[in-house]
Amino acid sequence: MFEIKSFFRLAPSINRIEIFAPEIASKWLPGQFIILRVDEKGERIPLTVNQVDKERGLLSIIFQKVGKTTKKLAKLKEGDCLTDLIGPLGRPLEVKDYGKVVCVGGGVGTAEIYPEAKALKEAGCYLTSILGARNKDLLILKDEMGKISDKVIVTTDDGSQGRRGLVTDALKEVLDKEKIDMVIAIGPVIMMREVSKLTLSYKVKTTVSLNSIMVDGTGMCGSCRVTVGGKTKFACVHGPEFDGHLVDFDELLIRNSRFLKEEKISLDLLKT
Ligand SMILES: Cc1cc2nc3c(=O)[nH]c(=O)nc-3n(C[C@H](O)[C@H](O)[C@H](O)COP(=O)(O)OP(=O)(O)OC[C@H]3O[C@@H](n4cnc5c(N)ncnc54)[C@H](O)[C@@H]3O)c2cc1C
Ligand code: FES
Repeated sequence: MFEIKSFFRLAPSINRIEIFAPEIASKWLPGQFIILRVDEKGERIPLTVNQVDKERGLLSIIFQKVGKTTKKLAKLKEGDCLTDLIGPLGRPLEVKDYGKVVCVGGGVGTAEIYPEAKALKEAGCYLTSILGARNKDLLILKDEMGKISDKVIVTTDDGSQGRRGLVTDALKEVLDKEKIDMVIAIGPVIMMREVSKLTLSYKVKTTVSLNSIMVDGTGMCGSCRVTVGGKTKFACVHGPEFDGHLVDFDELLIRNSRFLKEEKISLDLLKT
């Protein structure tokens, strides 16, 4: 169970793996995620399911190496098994024809937005995708997003591919030109905050996916607590998607940095 059936490098620090988990694959819906442990003593980390192959019972996950657990995951190879995996977790996206939708993916967030964009396109939405990355080497799924989008705009911070600048620059131009019915943004917290600030001024409904620190994924531990519209929510069970105009992003940034010291120590120990 939970055998890694394929391992593929998408970018220098970003990999795609396919994991055998037929029961989860059969129940998964776009927007949902899993929590896995690489080994017996490992921590639990949440990762979004990028695609499923129900016939073969496979979950496709795209992850970026950022710390100890994702680095350990990147060391596994085809035929290795994960210690455990639970899911599907979180509330799925409500899929329907919303009209004109803009999907904004930042960095590895593009992998998380892909299944939602695909489902929305299939439901009849007119889809504009804005994909942002620091540079061209970190840009992922451009072709896949191109196949399911009516229009794709690429931005890189250094101008090495697409237009130079931030996703918010491109989004502002789209909002100035067309009447947009909904924006979905998935990526770094600061990007989601800035997208939400921008769309608030255009009064466009905006959904973001919150990457708060999760442990159990069932609403019991409180680790993923976020404030939305002045109310306490647990991203693992009430989200991970929320109305971006109501999220307290500054609190989320503070809460996401609460283990920075420990994360650095465990990464240093892994290197030695
Ligand atoms: C619902 C959800 C879906 C996600 N989907 C993806 C995905 O598809 N691809 C991807 O690359 N990343 C995804 N992430 C982020 C991923 O979980 C973190 O990058 C990972 O946990 C980092 O662990 P680490 O040990 O490698 O790094 P660490 O050095 O431990 O942490 C690096 C940073 O990752 C975050 N983080 C650490 N532990 C956790 C945790 N248990 N839960 C959540 N965040 C944590 C913190 O912000 C931390 O500062 C998702 C997060 C959430 C909440
Ligand atoms: S991860 Fe424990 S309550 Fe959400």
